[in-house]
Amino acid sequence: MTEPFRDPLLPIPGRVADLLARMTPAEKVGQMLQLDARDDLDDQVLRVNVGSILHTSPERVMRAHRLVQQTRLRIPLLVGEDCIHGHSFWKGATIFPTQLGMAASWNPGLVEQAARITAVEAAATGIHWTFSPVLCIARDLRWGRVDETFGEDPFLIGELASAMVRGYQGAGLTDPTAILATAKHFAGYSETQGGRDASEADISRRKLRSWFLPPFERVAREGCGSFMLGYQTMDGVPITLNSWLLDEVLRGEWGYTGTLVTDWDNVGRMVWEQKVQPDYAHAAAAAVKAGNDVVMNTPGFYDGALQAIRDGLLAEAELDPAVARILTLKFELGLFENPRRPDRERIETVIGTPAHAAVNLEIARRSLVLLRNDGTLPLPTGGGPRTIAVVGPLADDAQEQLGDWAGGSGQAGWLEGQPRELITTVLDGLRRHAPTDWTITHAPGAGIAESIPHPDGPTCPDGQPRMPIVVPAVPDPELIADAVAQAEAADHVVAVLGDCIPLVGEGRSTATLELIGGQIALLDALTATGTPMTVVLLASKPLVLPPSAMDAAALVWAANPGMAGGQAIAELLLGLIEPSGRLPVSFARHAGQQPTYYNQIRGQHGDRYADLTQAPAFAFGEGLSYTTVEYADLRIATDLLTEGDTLVADLGLSNTGARPVRETVQAYVSDLVTSVSWADQELKAYRQVDLAPGEEVTVRFEIPVADCTIVDAEGHRIVEPGEFELRVGPSSIARSQLRARFRVTA
Ligand code: NOJ
Repeated sequence: MTEPFRDPLLPIPGRVADLLARMTPAEKVGQMLQLDARDDLDDQVLRVNVGSILHTSPERVMRAHRLVQQTRLRIPLLVGEDCIHGHSFWKGATIFPTQLGMAASWNPGLVEQAARITAVEAAATGIHWTFSPVLCIARDLRWGRVDETFGEDPFLIGELASAMVRGYQGAGLTDPTAILATAKHFAGYSETQGGRDASEADISRRKLRSWFLPPFERVAREGCGSFMLGYQTMDGVPITLNSWLLDEVLRGEWGYTGTLVTDWDNVGRMVWEQKVQPDYAHAAAAAVKAGNDVVMNTPGFYDGALQAIRDGLLAEAELDPAVARILTLKFELGLFENPRRPDRERIETVIGTPAHAAVNLEIARRSLVLLRNDGTLPLPTGGGPRTIAVVGPLADDAQEQLGDWAGGSGQAGWLEGQPRELITTVLDGLRRHAPTDWTITHAPGAGIAESIPHPDGPTCPDGQPRMPIVVPAVPDPELIADAVAQAEAADHVVAVLGDCIPLVGEGRSTATLELIGGQIALLDALTATGTPMTVVLLASKPLVLPPSAMDAAALVWAANPGMAGGQAIAELLLGLIEPSGRLPVSFARHAGQQPTYYNQIRGQHGDRYADLTQAPAFAFGEGLSYTTVEYADLRIATDLLTEGDTLVADLGLSNTGARPVRETVQAYVSDLVTSVSWADQELKAYRQVDLAPGEEVTVRFEIPVADCTIVDAEGHRIVEPGEFELRVGPSSIARSQLRARFRVTA
């Protein structure tokens, strides 16, 4: 007779109870573990009975499934991967712009499509679970993971994260093209000290509730399948053990019933790094009691938890809620009937299809932000032969263009990078899309940086990897001279510069934000030629730009624009598309200005440093188009409202230039007097409006008064009666906004 838990006709709770009753304590502990499949798979599956694996190559995932068949209960594996902006570590998968790049589109529809495509591609290869999206708020630009965020605004983050979760999870877990989404890193991980990755987050509960938690709350309530717990401690307590955050807020107030996964070795870090647990037995017991379900890559959790049971620190029954949740998830995914192994036929038909590439191109186009333009762009075509010098270290570096978590970025040993022919660099794009009588020349002009091994060795005393040290490239007179010669012989220079993988990612925060290596010397030399120059900033995050970039004829920020980035950029420069991206994060003028996010709390002495303005170089929401747009006549329908009402406002929007536009009309609300200090203004809504030249429309905003909240001194989110101001404009910059007052009564 087959065991009841194998009967697909039984209700899931009954199957879970039956299986749980058959499991030994060791099997339960193994079920809670998620281990790195690049390590000893046989040991992980056969001895540890591991419940989940991550970072698995196409070959090793098949081996893992086969090994499971040799285990006593043959419980199927849950296979996770960081499919962050595409199915990153699958050769030939569609790699989109980074999350920050996608955020610059301000377009939830496109973000949802990117996630859907990622899910379709990943699911075909046997991935069940992606560790995406990131809902951290970009706060200190020196942090190495700004590129993984949706930027600095909680409302925009919520809109885009919600879309991404929908895209991943498709029609629900029974949908064979769905993958489980992960809201990460819960919560406050980005509130670093000095931008240093995973440092203690010095943050109050009120501040969390004010800005950090709202996007998480939204996706929790919308059914995001899992939450990843950040690395850091907060108020002295690692998130993994933070019962206020996990029990009171997430599971309690928000009623979240999904799966909690720790970040990489959170449980071990409590022992060897944060030193808040004496040993693995105590750490494991504490993590289980705190309600963690899946323990990511703490191999010592296995022996630790079993020791804890032997020592009476943990009762076997305390493992059951987590194990039951994991088994429930596996039953819901139908893994016992179909373990969703890699499917050769689907792999051949769905990975990197032309249809996926077309969506990717559209997202890349929408992610480009035009920051400066003296009228040079779009480059005039149709006027006869021209020569364009495409220079800079990133003009033709296909793997760097993809950014972190993309195949060549180091997290997957089985992949050197994505196939070159699938990636269009800026040089490729201009060669392919410029008029046929144009000449496109190229010179790298400068290096950026190289990594050298850390003098103390490649691993820390506990065996964890030690990040290499980045050494900026020395400006090379020969490289510069070559680029200058090409610039002198050209009608226009396109300089493509920015940062590179050694400066981006986990444990790779930067002390400075400048363009490093030979890049500034190169830009200065190019400027001196007098040839008009467009700077294309291929930078994972906002950088501090030198005068030669700020004063260039045109400046475009392209983040890491994905496989189709070079085509999108070429189309933009040539005027084949309209620029429409808007900054999801502010650019600083100096690293010492940190933080520069727009929604800072009111109140300080003065409004500048003695030696520098506090104004960012470019503010949240900024971005130009190839036309001019006028905002006029902001009218509020009824300016006396109560909390249950909706604020209705209209304004006139007209395209006063000669090119079409996709304008992102942004509505901010300022609560003019608050009982506790608050941000001067917050984005509450935006509309993307397409206008033909000369076209005029009325744009309406309907903002529920219930959204015009603050968090009071007791931590309650409330609407405070009083005077408010609606500010509508093309960005967060005050002087660009129209204003209208309204009053909320009790
Ligand atoms: C650590 C990172 O912080 C997290 O974002 C990622 O999902 C895991 N490693 C797995 O790679």
